Amino acid sequence: MLDPRGRVVMVSGASRGMGLKIAHHLHDLGYHLSLGGRDLSALEGVVGQRVGGRVSLHVYDAHDPAAAAAWVSATIAEHGRLDGLVNNAGILRDVRLEGAEDESELDAMWQVNVKAPVHLVRQAWPHLKASGSGRVVNMASMSGKRIAGNLMGYSLTKYAMAGLTEQIRHDGWDHGIRATAICPGYVATDMAYALTDLDPEKMTQPEDVAALVATALALPNTASVPEMMVNYRYEPIT
Ligand SMILES: NC(=O)c1ccc[n+]([C@@H]2O[C@H](COP(=O)([O-])OP(=O)(O)OC[C@H]3O[C@@H](n4cnc5c(N)ncnc54)[C@H](OP(=O)(O)O)[C@@H]3O)[C@@H](O)[C@H]2O)c1
Repeated sequence: MLDPRGRVVMVSGASRGMGLKIAHHLHDLGYHLSLGGRDLSALEGVVGQRVGGRVSLHVYDAHDPAAAAAWVSATIAEHGRLDGLVNNAGILRDVRLEGAEDESELDAMWQVNVKAPVHLVRQAWPHLKASGSGRVVNMASMSGKRIAGNLMGYSLTKYAMAGLTEQIRHDGWDHGIRATAICPGYVATDMAYALTDLDPEKMTQPEDVAALVATALALPNTASVPEMMVNYRYEPIT
C-alpha cells in the first residue's frame, strides 16, 4: 500500500455527509488535505482543530465555472503537490422520465455531479501525472449501476461517473493514474434521509464508505480497482 504521509488529496463536498467523514478519516491516516466547500465558515466549523498544519480549506462551488482551476492552483500553492482527488460533492433532485419537472433541476445535477468533477480532473491532471501514483475516487452510486426507482435524472449522472472513471483509467494508466468509482446504496446522510424513512442504522455508514475511499487511494499502481459496490441490503448483481 502507498504511504499516506506526505501525500496530498483534495476532497469536494467536505462540509457534511460522506465528504466530512472521508476528510476526518484521511486526516487520521496522515494525508495532507485540501478540502473544498461552498461555505468556508461551515467547513471551519466541522473540520475544527484539524485546520492548519496538514489541512487547507477552500471555497469550492461546483456551479462556478472558475472554481476548479482556482481550487487546484490554491492547493498547489499551499501544499506543493497533488496525489489524489475525491469527487464527492453531489446533489439529488426529483427528475423522472415522466412528468413536467423543471429542466433546470436536470441541468443542476449534470453540472454538480458530472461537469464539475470533469473540470476538477482536467485541472488536477498534470499534477496527478507528476505524482506518478495519482488517484481519482469518484462518488458514483448504485443508482449508476441499475435502475430501481424513479431517480432518472440522478441515475443518468451516476452512470456518467462510471464513464468518467473508465476514461481516467484509460488516459492515465501509463502515467500511474488510477481511478475508482464508489457505488453505494443508501448511506446514512442528509441525502438518503430526504429519500427514505429507513432507519439510518440500517443504512451503510459514511465511516465505512470513507474506509473504502482510503483503500482506493492507497492501493498501489499494480492493484487497480475500477469500482467498489457497497450495499446495506442484498441485491443480485446482474
Ligand atoms: N447518501 C446516499 O445514500 C448516497 C448513495 C450513493 C451515492 N451518494 C453520493 O455520495 C456523495 C456524497 O453525498 P452525501 O450522501 O454525503 O450527501 P449530502 O450529505 O447531501 O452532502 C452533499 C455534499 O455535497 C456538497 N455540495 C452540494 N452542492 C454543491 C455545490 N454546488 N458545490 C460544492 N459542493 C456541493 C454539499 O455541500 P453543502 O454543505 O454546501 O450543501 C455537501 O458537502 C454524492 O455525490 C452523492 O450523490 C450518496
